[in-house]
Amino acid sequence: MANAEHKMATDTNLLTFEKCHLELSRAEFNMDAVLFYAKLIQGVFLAVLNSFIDYSFYIFLTVILFLVFFLVYKSYLSPVLYVKELSDIGFKHISPGPDRAERIARAQKARRLGSKIPPPYPNGWFAVAETSQLGIGRVLSVDALGQNLCVYRGEDGVARCVDAYCPHLGANLAVGGSVYGNCIECPFHKWKFGENGACVSVPGIDHPPKGVSIKTWNSVEVDGAIWIWHDAEGRDPLWPMSEVEETKTWGFRGRNEFVVSAHIQEIPENGADVAHLNAVHSPSLVSSLGERYPFLLNIIGCHTWTADWSRNEDHTANLSLTHDYKVLKYDLFHIDASVTQSGPGHVRLLLKTNFGPMMVSQSVTPIGPLLQKIIHRVYSPKYNAFLGIMMVYSEAYMFERDVAIWNSKIFVGAPAYVRTDKTIRLSAHGFRNFIANIANHSEMLVVIL
Ligand code: FES
Ligand SMILES: [Fe+2]
Repeated sequence: MANAEHKMATDTNLLTFEKCHLELSRAEFNMDAVLFYAKLIQGVFLAVLNSFIDYSFYIFLTVILFLVFFLVYKSYLSPVLYVKELSDIGFKHISPGPDRAERIARAQKARRLGSKIPPPYPNGWFAVAETSQLGIGRVLSVDALGQNLCVYRGEDGVARCVDAYCPHLGANLAVGGSVYGNCIECPFHKWKFGENGACVSVPGIDHPPKGVSIKTWNSVEVDGAIWIWHDAEGRDPLWPMSEVEETKTWGFRGRNEFVVSAHIQEIPENGADVAHLNAVHSPSLVSSLGERYPFLLNIIGCHTWTADWSRNEDHTANLSLTHDYKVLKYDLFHIDASVTQSGPGHVRLLLKTNFGPMMVSQSVTPIGPLLQKIIHRVYSPKYNAFLGIMMVYSEAYMFERDVAIWNSKIFVGAPAYVRTDKTIRLSAHGFRNFIANIANHSEMLVVIL
């Protein structure tokens, strides 16, 4: 009995010893594996590092070539397209979350509109489509100036704009309509409307009905866009729009595009608002650190501006603008800008820099009563194409600072002007020239609602 007990104890001890031995060898094995993989990683890392050092010249060359190729491609072959929707700018104060879009929409709905708001659609030329969007035979549906429009290009290459709705049974010509010669054909019963808007053919009828037509809009094509004349009193254009040499001879470098929630008067008024330039547009584009820590401004640099705005007797206003980007006492980038505002919807900026000239064409088009589509199209000579594409971005970043304010502000009909606001007052006063004598009451109602 005692022997049996002794044997059992010895067996148990043996079992425990074997178990310990096994676990120890497993631990050793794990340690070996760890060391093995650590050495492997180290070896691979050193091999990659050595190769990188050996081939560093070629790697550097490849990166430079890739960059050059990318810049040439962007500068000459693929113009920049920078687009921001309404909710993209000026809503940092609305915290992230899955329902953020709804909260932004709610904030927009709850925003007070302001006082003494002028009619939303002044008289003038307004861009409704991009030249590049409208090939021969193409039809576009455009919502602008409180209207639904049909823009198409006939076989003669001329872009035309007509009211979207067919006088027969009201089908939308821009939705499924086709171009025949220089006519637009309705998708519903195939009636055709000619260059002057008159119905020229009805299937199954020898003579088209007399006096049936669609409204045609005066249109021109300049600065890479199709513009229509809007006049609340139905007058013909009060001034012409013509091509300039720069858009004909320089290359198109791209455009930036924004949807802004504001009355259209706010946009041209920004040019006359000299005081806001150094308040809003001074912090460096390169880094927002200077905005947070002003003592860093000297190191990072900041933009300084001078402006001289004047209104002319006709539909134009001029602004002479200088810009300097200064780091410490060094002026790194100087621009002289000559700006011409032409009516409420068009501005041309001619910029002179040490690296060459550029032109920016701005269009402001009311999509709805307090909703504007603003596009800047940039042109520059071939030799400074790169500067042109940089301008598309840098101008957009500067402009976003205005957009962030517009998207949340109200319209103030009777501002508390001070002496330095003289040009804003003049601009607001001048804007009345573009408002029709017969204020469109239904448009006003939409604003108030
Ligand atoms: S609705 Fe246009 S042709 Fe009938
Ligand atoms: Fe501004």
